Amino acid sequence: MTSAIDLAGFRAHFPSTASLVYLNSGSYGLLGLSVRAAMERYLDDRMRQGADWYGWCALEDEVRERVARLLGAQSHEVAVTGSASAGLNALASGIDLAKRPRILVSNYEFPTSAQIWHAQEKRGAEVIHMAEADDRIIPVEHFRAAIDERTAVVALSHVCYRHGGKLSADTIRAVAAIAREHGAVTVLDCFQSVGTERIDVNSLGVDVCVGGMLKYLLGSAGSGFLWVRETLARTLQPTTSGWFAQADTHAMDIFAHDPSRDARRFQGGTPPVPSLYTAKAGLDLILGLGVDVIERRVRGLTRFALERLTEAGIAFATPDDDNLRGPMIAVPSTDEERLVALLMDQRIVTSSRDGNIRAGFHAYNDESDVVRFVEALARSELCLRNSAAARSEVGN
Ligand SMILES: Cc1ncc(COP(=O)(O)O)c(C=O)c1O
Repeated sequence: MTSAIDLAGFRAHFPSTASLVYLNSGSYGLLGLSVRAAMERYLDDRMRQGADWYGWCALEDEVRERVARLLGAQSHEVAVTGSASAGLNALASGIDLAKRPRILVSNYEFPTSAQIWHAQEKRGAEVIHMAEADDRIIPVEHFRAAIDERTAVVALSHVCYRHGGKLSADTIRAVAAIAREHGAVTVLDCFQSVGTERIDVNSLGVDVCVGGMLKYLLGSAGSGFLWVRETLARTLQPTTSGWFAQADTHAMDIFAHDPSRDARRFQGGTPPVPSLYTAKAGLDLILGLGVDVIERRVRGLTRFALERLTEAGIAFATPDDDNLRGPMIAVPSTDEERLVALLMDQRIVTSSRDGNIRAGFHAYNDESDVVRFVEALARSELCLRNSAAARSEVGN
């Protein structure tokens, strides 16, 4: 049980919370004191000794181990990458499309996780999109009807970056089971959820999980991860590679390609060294407070926000069901860019996508942030009011 003091202490670790209502964690998490110190440590280390390759490789392994812990996985199943895209590109390059050209892509995807699969069309891929229904849900039945022996990959995003709708654990489990029955690989992009709730890749039954450190994991840009189930990783031969993807990074053999037996085969060149410092510090903040504590806090805040929006008569585009919602809520607007700017003038930081204002919550937020956000929305003329017509317009 976490006390209010733990959460207050966590908030205090992010000094910007004193002057900002920061609701943009779905874009970039706030900078914590220890993460800032980690970046400074990198600079100090550079000043002191210039280069520390063995130390940096050990640091990469420490990041790998923490990501594995977060996902309920094993360290050697984790590739530490420079971005989610880098991991997905390496994965895609290793998928044989000759007998299985079909790739199912959910419409929850962030552009990168759809574009990379479309890029495989040059290699013969046939990409099929799985649309969401009006209530933001993508029914399992749609996947069941589409997955067959020609399907190589089923690409899912845990939480949709546009409206904050989430695929429930039951849905992911069911889709992954259908994919497995047909010999297809399930890829879960958890970038918009990791750090804010427990993700157990084995219990979900997915084969690959991709994400990055800069949002809810509280690190910085330039670091990502790709988890690949051990038994799958060994069967895939990515055609993107590099010396940090070799079985022995220090072998320096220019006459052969000898990929690591582990998920490191999905890496490439020099690791993102400065971002490894911040990634480790961010992961330590998450693991230190505890994902379950964060999950409860974030769920409570998003629920409180939806209740306050309802009281204020403001429509929202995020599913009301706690199990179908990630850390972000979305509020439809008649002019979302103007509304983001208007909120920014009041030191309330949000972002916009697809006709919505997006507000992402972390454990450093509190109820006062929700109140200031909803009061500012209520004062603006740029939100849809919660009439029956507005609710059906936003599918909620
Ligand atoms: C769900 C999701 N996937 C992937 C990405 C892109 O990741 P990267 O820029 O690290 O490739 C983002 C970035 O916002 C995202 O929200």
